[in-house]
Amino acid sequence: MAERYRDGATAMPDDEARRIAYVVARMPATFAAVRAALARLAAAAPRLAPASLLDLGAGPATGLWAVEDVFGGSIAHATLLDSDTAMLALGTRLREAATHRAAPFQGADRPRLDVVHASLTRPPALPPHDLVLCAYVLGELDARNALEALGTAWHATSGALVVVEPGWPRGHARLMAWRSRLMEWGAHVIAPCPHDLGCPLEDDDWCHFATRLERTRLHRQVKDGSLGWEDEKFAYLVATRAPARRPPARIIHPPRIEKGHVCLRLCRDGRAEPLVVSRRDGRSFKAARKARWGDGWPAHAADDPPARETDSPARGGDDPPAR
Ligand SMILES: C[S@@+](CC[C@H](N)C(=O)[O-])C[C@H]1O[C@@H](n2cnc3c(N)ncnc32)[C@H](O)[C@@H]1O
Repeated sequence: MAERYRDGATAMPDDEARRIAYVVARMPATFAAVRAALARLAAAAPRLAPASLLDLGAGPATGLWAVEDVFGGSIAHATLLDSDTAMLALGTRLREAATHRAAPFQGADRPRLDVVHASLTRPPALPPHDLVLCAYVLGELDARNALEALGTAWHATSGALVVVEPGWPRGHARLMAWRSRLMEWGAHVIAPCPHDLGCPLEDDDWCHFATRLERTRLHRQVKDGSLGWEDEKFAYLVATRAPARRPPARIIHPPRIEKGHVCLRLCRDGRAEPLVVSRRDGRSFKAARKARWGDGWPAHAADDPPARETDSPARGGDDPPAR
């Protein structure tokens, strides 16, 4: 899988061993990234309690786990669509196992699941859902199909659409094209962009974030890694039907804490600009020391999700996410 990612080829699992490899090696990271993107939505719309979820390219139902983690038990009905029936079946088996074993799921009869075996290139009619998710799937389609799938997703969105992709440079231009298209369709793209102007990032920079996740012993073993954690770099878009609160600026690089000052890089009003917050700035300095890559700025104006296992992952190069 890692080799396929590095070659830029699609990493879609196509046999049972690869599907299980995806679940063990990739799903924890895609879960963490989807959860981080959803947390931005939850922070921008604190009263949001989606009752229905449509997960397009759901795979092993990663998105549903993340949605339940962020929105608690609000989801009453979830539609999971994927072209790979075996992957959907694996996801259902995982949920069944968890329902029996994990405390939060014991006796839970929610949500009702509809599993739809279909391709996003020939989607069936999909009724509106409060929350629609396209996680790590649009980038696997060619440009035309991806745009059509985005249209399908937006058409089925009555509340919010969340798109998550690997955080590598080659996805940036496509993500920005999807953002423009969503705005043409009347969407409010509420994150990560804190404005509706063009993206200010150029050539050697691309909008992405990172989330840190813990590795279990099995996870370490299958990845031949010794670290107890990994950083998943991801890019995302949150689009809503109704306007939602946005911070004036967003921190687009990991903050650098120096002696007596903190260096931030912000996206604000269509510009990418540095901001140095010094000890003399009092409360702002305190806030800057706590600020995380991806947070809104200024801190008091931002509705940021509470810190989780995410620390301050280092920004790095074009890492393929499968390592
Ligand atoms: C990288 S996995 C992502 C799975 C899940 N969303 C996650 O974040 O872990 C991509 C999923 O998209 C599905 N997929 C790829 N092309 C598709 C298409 N044209 N229509 C429907 N599903 C597709 C694959 O079968 C696979 O389950």
